[in-house]
Amino acid sequence: MSSNLLTVAYIAASALFILSLGGLSNQETARRGNVFGITGMLIAFVATAINSVSAYGLLVGMILPGAMIGAIVASRVAMTSMPELVAILHSFVGLAAVLVGIANYLAATTLTGVEATIHEVEVFIGVFIGAITFTGSIIAFGKLRGIISSKPLMLPARHLLNLGMLAASLWLGYEFMGGELLTGLQSLLIMTTIACVLGIHLVMAIGGADMPVVISMLNSYSGWAAAAAGFMLSNDLLIITGALVGSSGAILSYIMCRAMNRSFISVILGGFGGGTSTASQSAQPAGEVIATTVEETAELLENARSVIIVPGYGMAVAQAQYPISEITRSLREQGVNVRFGIHPVAGRMPGHMNVLLAEANLPYDIVLEMEEINEDFPATDVVLVVGANDTVNSSAMEDPNSPIAGMPVLEVWKAKTVVVMKRSMASGYAGVDNPVFYKENTRMLFGDARKNVDAILGKLSALAKV
Ligand code: TAP
Repeated sequence: MSSNLLTVAYIAASALFILSLGGLSNQETARRGNVFGITGMLIAFVATAINSVSAYGLLVGMILPGAMIGAIVASRVAMTSMPELVAILHSFVGLAAVLVGIANYLAATTLTGVEATIHEVEVFIGVFIGAITFTGSIIAFGKLRGIISSKPLMLPARHLLNLGMLAASLWLGYEFMGGELLTGLQSLLIMTTIACVLGIHLVMAIGGADMPVVISMLNSYSGWAAAAAGFMLSNDLLIITGALVGSSGAILSYIMCRAMNRSFISVILGGFGGGTSTASQSAQPAGEVIATTVEETAELLENARSVIIVPGYGMAVAQAQYPISEITRSLREQGVNVRFGIHPVAGRMPGHMNVLLAEANLPYDIVLEMEEINEDFPATDVVLVVGANDTVNSSAMEDPNSPIAGMPVLEVWKAKTVVVMKRSMASGYAGVDNPVFYKENTRMLFGDARKNVDAILGKLSALAKV
């Protein structure tokens, strides 16, 4: 392939990736965004293969098993396990950056002078970011899977330890670039080991409640690792793609930090969200809860003029979005104003709820973000909380000692009546008790959300026929 044609292919792929990101920012255009992304990747892949590969048999032999494993894993993964899959995929990007970096260093180079120096810096930084991403993502995967405790690991002098590892890596960088104590390869390999330990330590120190930010942060790191690999391989498209992933991951981390009222730095430094804070134990909400039944809930909905449904992780677990969609249709047919309130970190990954509701064919215009709907709760007759907990926890606003104090939440308790659907009095992901359950206007509908929503739908249909 001529270099002009390759450049055109790369520009086309880059434009498609940018269009893809634009499309993915809105539910209505998300499908189109995905198609743009797939097309861009296909163009990039074919152009690179034609341009820089001669052993096609080997390429196919390498790609086929990978593609098959990827397709099987992706088709089998449950929506609720998606963050784990994303985490482990980030680790592959990190590992790839490490391997590309080391291979690149070992390969013979014709570069001299400043160019050679720049190349060495690229290799060193690429391997450093890649190694942190690799092990950090594995730990994030373990925490999300529950293989590793979600409690933050608080080693004494952990900040000093991190600083020490950073300083050691800097010194190794100096040695790598021509110091006299170690050979380049020795410096590179020792730094890789240190960066791997740093990745483990950084993510181990982060508690469960901050994991969403960590995942998007690792997403960002994996982008920068890919961009660094692009510099090493002199591949412009990889640089552009890596920068797109790196910056969008960083922006997403920032948005999520804002949604949880956490500063990015305090998330990175860790120690929050283990659910063991003394504050959470001292601020145990007291009182009786009022249990309700499917019949009462159906009647409440039937007699309401405005209803807001707030889904959370439990809706995803129970796969209750389909009967919820039916309930919404039935109530709207009767003139009830039904809308959805979505918290930015509801569920276990960004956009989790939106994907599930779209899957159940709910109209996009009634699915509103937290800021769009929060003011409307006081004028709402019934709020149906379906498997959400942390994202509707009033202690975030009412208890300055709460571990989630200051985190913006959906203010469901301000509605006339709140029906909370969950199986028990267990706390949510952050391990914090929820005073909303004990409020006078709250009714607890215990049981699996799918079973209860199905039963409510049955009652509503029966009431509609009367
Ligand atoms: P959570 O606070 O985790 O609460 C979910 C609730 O669903 C639980 O209290 C659970 O109570 C209930 N539940 C589970 N299975 C159920 C079922 N089959 N039927 C009915 N209820 C069921 O969820 P949330 O409000 O969506 O908040 C999300 C939390 O996850 C936040 O703390 C957030 O920081 C964290 N997180 C978010 C992300 C992203 S990016 N969204 C990623 C990782 C972590 P029972 O056990 O009593 O049923």
